[in-house]
Amino acid sequence: MELFTAIETRRAVKHYSITETVSEADFERIMEAVLLSPTSYNIQHWRFVRVVDAQIRAQIQEAAWGQAQVTEAAELIVLCADTQAWFVNPQRYWANARHDVQEVMLPMLKSFYQGKEQLQRDEAIRSSGMAAQTMMLAAKGLGYDTCPMIGFNAERVAEIINLPSGHVISMMITLGKAAKPANQRAGQLPLAEVLVENSF
Ligand SMILES: Cc1cc2nc3c(=O)[nH]c(=O)nc-3n(C[C@H](O)[C@H](O)[C@H](O)COP(=O)(O)O)c2cc1C
Repeated sequence: MELFTAIETRRAVKHYSITETVSEADFERIMEAVLLSPTSYNIQHWRFVRVVDAQIRAQIQEAAWGQAQVTEAAELIVLCADTQAWFVNPQRYWANARHDVQEVMLPMLKSFYQGKEQLQRDEAIRSSGMAAQTMMLAAKGLGYDTCPMIGFNAERVAEIINLPSGHVISMMITLGKAAKPANQRAGQLPLAEVLVENSF
């Protein structure tokens, strides 16, 4: 599918076919595309929980106020992020760079994040947001539908998935084939309202 067609036809789909699955090849292709998303200092804070167990799905659905897509969709992915990824073996993020580049980037990365908890969290969420959009567009490009979700009790979902300390949940994404089209677009703000030149 052409990129702009994917952007224009991606919608938050709430009802999914319970018989149509996502092939393993397509799932892997989507996730490999996700890994190409940009992150600050190439830190790749994202961690993904693919929920395949029906009982765990049902528990998450309960924590998501019964939203149908959580169990109807072929796939449910909980997008998490490691706020401490900046600190954990950061040489991995620059392993293929020239040695002189590594020598500059690694100390720079450390001083950028050290002691700045809010920034560490912001960056984790930012990276996860980048991953989310890639996931949804890649899925659309292969003919699937998605719904990003934050309508759930994050503390409860953290318990269910055994979220490690220092990690946050940024959202969940359902993935599958639509059984019902998305609702009519609710109303986009005009470009003139959200785009300013040079300063507010
Ligand atoms: C971070 C985030 C969280 C969302 N959470 C939910 C949710 O819990 N349940 C739901 O039905 N839709 C959820 N949505 C979908 C939005 O309502 C939807 O994206 C928005 O209305 C725009 O519609 P569109 O995605 O079809 O263009 C969420 C979207 C985002 C980006």
